Amino acid sequence: MRAATMSLAGACVLIAGCGQPAEAPAAAAPAAMTAEQTAAVLASLPAPYNTADLENGKRKFGLCKSCHTIAPGGANMTGPNLHGVFGRKTGEVAGYKYSDAVKNAGFVWDAEHLDKWLAEPRTFLPGTKMSFAGLKEAKDRVDLIAYMKVESGYKTP
Ligand code: HEC
Repeated sequence: MRAATMSLAGACVLIAGCGQPAEAPAAAAPAAMTAEQTAAVLASLPAPYNTADLENGKRKFGLCKSCHTIAPGGANMTGPNLHGVFGRKTGEVAGYKYSDAVKNAGFVWDAEHLDKWLAEPRTFLPGTKMSFAGLKEAKDRVDLIAYMKVESGYKTP
């Protein structure tokens, strides 16, 4: 009996359009990617990000979560939603009230700017209202930035 059920379930995974989706819906993360998709995005990043430790990046993002969401359509909290931040100009999230420092900074967020910002936000953009001391370890910033790229819908140009 059990063997029959299992092979049926196995067949469902193989046959497309078999009624139920093969994977359990990822309720917590609306834009959840499969492990293969995640690995493909990671591999497509320029060095050193392509060899980043995403688990560590995720842990480091824990430092941001009290103020930021990164899921698509996530709420602005103390800080703005970070989905799609790469390739976006500073201070552009609709409905979020930025400081003049960030609003007028006038560059486009990429890994290099984010690395400097995350090392020491208040030195990089004096007058910012982001009260985050900074992430001192360069490797932690690499891991975090790679994690953010994977999570924020980054597409290689
Ligand atoms: C204590 C709350 C807080 C924490 C913690 C925090 N931020 Fe922020 N963040 C803010 C605020 C507030 C702003 C808006 C800054 C401004 O307008 O001066 C901001 C702005 C930003 C921006 C600019 C976004 C844009 O649209 O231009 C980025 C990128 C960012 N934060 C990334 C991070 C990351 C990554 C972390 C974790 C390492 C983090 N922040 C931790 C509050 C926080």
